[in-house]
Parts: sequence; C-alpha cells; structure tokens
Amino acid sequence: MLSKRKINKIKILNNKKDFRLDKFIEMALFASDGYYLRKKPIGRKFDFVTSPEISQMFGEIIGIYLVYHWKEKIKSKFNLIELGPGNGTLFKDIERTAQILPNFFENAEVNLIEINKELRKIQKKNLNYFRQSKIRWSNTLDFRSKLPSIIYSNEFFDCFPVRQFLNDNDHWFERYIKFNEKENKYYSINKRVISKKILDNLSEYKRQKIYEVSYSRNKYFEQICKYLKKNRGICILFDYGYDKKIKNFTLQAIYNHKKTSILENIGQQDISSHVNFNELIEIAKQKKLQINEYVSQGDFLIKYGILERKKKLLTKNVNLNKNLLEEEVDRLINVDRMGKLFKCLVVSNL
Ligand SMILES: C[S@@+](CC[C@H](N)C(=O)[O-])C[C@H]1O[C@@H](n2cnc3c(N)ncnc32)[C@H](O)[C@@H]1O
Repeated sequence: MLSKRKINKIKILNNKKDFRLDKFIEMALFASDGYYLRKKPIGRKFDFVTSPEISQMFGEIIGIYLVYHWKEKIKSKFNLIELGPGNGTLFKDIERTAQILPNFFENAEVNLIEINKELRKIQKKNLNYFRQSKIRWSNTLDFRSKLPSIIYSNEFFDCFPVRQFLNDNDHWFERYIKFNEKENKYYSINKRVISKKILDNLSEYKRQKIYEVSYSRNKYFEQICKYLKKNRGICILFDYGYDKKIKNFTLQAIYNHKKTSILENIGQQDISSHVNFNELIEIAKQKKLQINEYVSQGDFLIKYGILERKKKLLTKNVNLNKNLLEEEVDRLINVDRMGKLFKCLVVSNL
C-alpha cells in the first residue's frame, strides 16, 4: 500500500490510467477525492449501517469483555486502540459500560486510528467531552509504545484493497482496471501472471478456480500480531468474512444501501471485501499468539450475554419499544442476517 500521506495527495479522478485492481481500490477509497476522505459513510441515512449503529448492546457486550480481560490479565497502564471508529458509537458504548470499573479508563492511553477527517470531526463531537484531552487520533498504528494493548475493531479489515486471480487451465490471470479514453470510463481486463513470486504464492491454490487476497490486510494484521507478541495484549475484531473456499469473488461496492459495480460512482461509494479469516488465524498462529475466540458474531454476542442484557433493559425501562429492541438484537444475531456472515476473532498474548 502507498503511504497514507502520499496517497491522500493524489486525486483518482485526475489519474485516468490503468491500475492493478488493489491500486484502483486504494485510490477510490483513500485518494484525496476518494470515498473515505470525503464522505460520511456510516449511519441509517448514509450508505451502510454497522452493528454499533444498530444497537448499543453490541458495544456494551464488547465493553464488558474488554474490562474483564484488563482486570484479569493486564491490571496496569495500557493502550486502548480502536481501528476505524466510524461515528465513534462503539467507543461511546464501551466507555459507558466500562464505568463499572473506573480504573479501566484511568489506566488507558486511548488511540483512535482514523483516516477520514469528516469522521474524526464526528468522533470528536460524539465522544465524552472530558475524555477528549486524553484521546489521540492517528492515521495509522504506532508500534513504538511498550505498554500492553487492547486493540479492537468493527468492519475495519474489510476496507483493505484486494487482488483477484483466475485460474484457467493451470494458467493464472490477474484482474486489472483500464481506462478507456474514448468512452471516458474504466473497465476490467485480465492479464496473465508472470511474476515468479506471485506464481509461487498461487501454487498453493491450484485446485481453485479463483483466489482473492488482500496482502495489505494480512500485513497490517501481522504487524498487530508481532506487536502483541512483543508487548502483550489482545486484539478483538469483528468483520464479515469466510473461512472456507469461496466460489465467487467477494469484492463489492455499496452506494446508497444498494450493491453496484466498483467501476461506477468512483470516490462516491464504499468498496469492501469479505475477510479471509483462515489467513488471519494462520498469521496469528505463526506469531505464536493464542486464538481465544473464532466464532460467528451471533454466537459471540449470545455467549457473552446479549439476550440477558436485552431482558434487563426491558425490565428496567418500561417505556422502551420492545419490538424495536427485539428487531435490533435479531438483526445482530440471526444467522440469516448479520449473525453468521459476521465473525469475531480474538487473538492474544496475555
Ligand atoms: C466500515 S467503517 C466502520 C466504522 C465503525 N467501526 C463502525 O462499525 O461503525 C470503516 C472505518 O475505518 C476507517 N478506515 C478504513 N480504512 C482505514 C485505514 N486504512 N486507516 C485508518 N482508518 C481507516 C474508515 O474511515 C471508517 O471509520
């Protein structure tokens, strides 16, 4: 990936040329006229709604989980790092929940990793006023601290650009995006892979027709694992993804809640792909981290008490809209909705 500072200065719309697919996605999302630098993407009125935006209970369950791990295994000064906080809703819910143990936030060095300036403004507005002086915002993770860390994210790893390979009779082809001057639009082409290094990587997948990979995502996660191994800590991530062979590419574009082509509305629409959890788990194992959890989002939330929390909320607040609350929880845990496609991976060195 290009350094964020470099890419943020480039405009994709002035750059009408050919790209390898991952470079095209990177520009469409992170160039100065790219989606994540100029749009407010998250929320009911925008392109997509995420779990923390659906219900406060999502963040509350995670909050309890984080507090428990800090109390049992860290008990000292630590880094609390959220990757891609969006509107800040998850942080807000975790912060409220963590008040049950005041020492937790007293010991936390809070770092929010956020690239989108518009979202940073929203986060600053939404987050507790007194805490702001203690929050540090950064574009990327800083691995210099020696403190143990609690790192968490929701729908962060799906933002990384992917490369797509097609296997045609044992010949591998890779997807590129070309610009057609005459028609003034982009289209896809497949180029034969000739790089020996890539062909060696692909040889492992020769029984598959397709292979989609995000080398930048894997690299980012590998850096986190190395950091945890060195300084202790835990990483909890939620994302949509898979752990079996896929039959179709998962790359998708969403514009106004609707699926579109990645070649349309460039810089105006979200582009994401499903996370290959097998690869992340393999990386964590190689770095000798413990895999604490690898479950569906639904199973995680049920295991850590979302149904009990719902009951409690309903008994304590008779004015709450019961049907709405039931609907929110159903959306988060139902296997036909977000319950199964979304996964939770927890890795640690504590
Ligand atoms: C899909 S949104 C999810 C937001 C939030 N976690 C939620 O669940 O509502 C992705 C978030 O990650 C941020 N982001 C994406 N890629 C990033 C990167 N490489 N570095 C820093 N922030 C990034 C986006 O700006 C946004 O805040």
